[in-house]
Amino acid sequence: MTESRSDPAADLIFVPNAAAIAREAGARLREFFAQGVETEYKGDVDLVTVADRTVEKLIRTRLSETFPDHGIYGEEGTRDRLDQEFRWYVDPLDGTTNFAHGIPHFCVSLGLEQRAPDLAPEQDGLIVAGVIYDPLLDELFCAERGRGATLNGRPIRASKVPHLAESLVATGFPSRKRHDNPNVHFYHEFTLRSHGVRRAGSAALDLAYVASGRFEAFWEFNLNPWDTAAGILLVEEAGGRISDFAGGPFKLDSREVLASNGLIHDELVGLFKDLFAGRDISPIPSPREFAEKRAARAEKVR
Ligand code: IPD
Ligand code: CA
Ligand code: CA
Repeated sequence: MTESRSDPAADLIFVPNAAAIAREAGARLREFFAQGVETEYKGDVDLVTVADRTVEKLIRTRLSETFPDHGIYGEEGTRDRLDQEFRWYVDPLDGTTNFAHGIPHFCVSLGLEQRAPDLAPEQDGLIVAGVIYDPLLDELFCAERGRGATLNGRPIRASKVPHLAESLVATGFPSRKRHDNPNVHFYHEFTLRSHGVRRAGSAALDLAYVASGRFEAFWEFNLNPWDTAAGILLVEEAGGRISDFAGGPFKLDSREVLASNGLIHDELVGLFKDLFAGRDISPIPSPREFAEKRAARAEKVR
């Protein structure tokens, strides 16, 4: 007699509806991407398109129909029912710059936070569900707290690579206050110490890729809750680890996220510590020094 195994998806509370909403939103993004959209500026270099706004509106309508007593906090300005126990963080289009330039790498991200009634506004609740959908690859990443993470319905796990030296890692750069951001130094150091660093342009997909074992780690400065809420749960449910750069607890508004497969986490935290202290920085030739060497080489072959 074969024992009947229960379908893990049957126990999910929020993911099935959220996944349907993310798929519908992703289908709209696909249409906008195919037809091409005009780009506007939110700041100096922060891009926004009609797709970002239209899809946030669609997600807001669908979430309100499906979960009428849940709050919604969206990148494009939605602030609904934020006094409620549950709150969705919505990024209707993560990877707008890719989208606007015709690069097929972007997604929809929906993360659900559960907030105890007595929680202070600056305190985090618990992220209980997350859905990230890449509409062009038709890849749907889902997680619900305590029930694991999946890609298109199959369980995913973070990678088993034990050292940074054998890792492929990812980062991103903010579009606001770019001149104030030190990440290029970290980019260089991680490049020298790993198989490489990808700057693929969608933080939510970067996190989903850590959860699915494609990247060993991801870090970024100055992200917002709509970028990270869904992805951090995916990473944790896939057996990875999330923290700030010092290894302390991650906070939705802490502006530091370090995600990894767990195995290389301590090594990464140690590296951040050393680099922030100015230790172990590898010398890099200035463009001028490089130009002098280049000129000397050209002189020799003449
Ligand atoms: C951006 C992307 C990018 C990251 C930026 C984010 P957006 O989100 O996630 O990868 O480097 O910091 O702002 O603006 O495309 O939703
Ligand atoms: Ca984003
Ligand atoms: Ca966005």
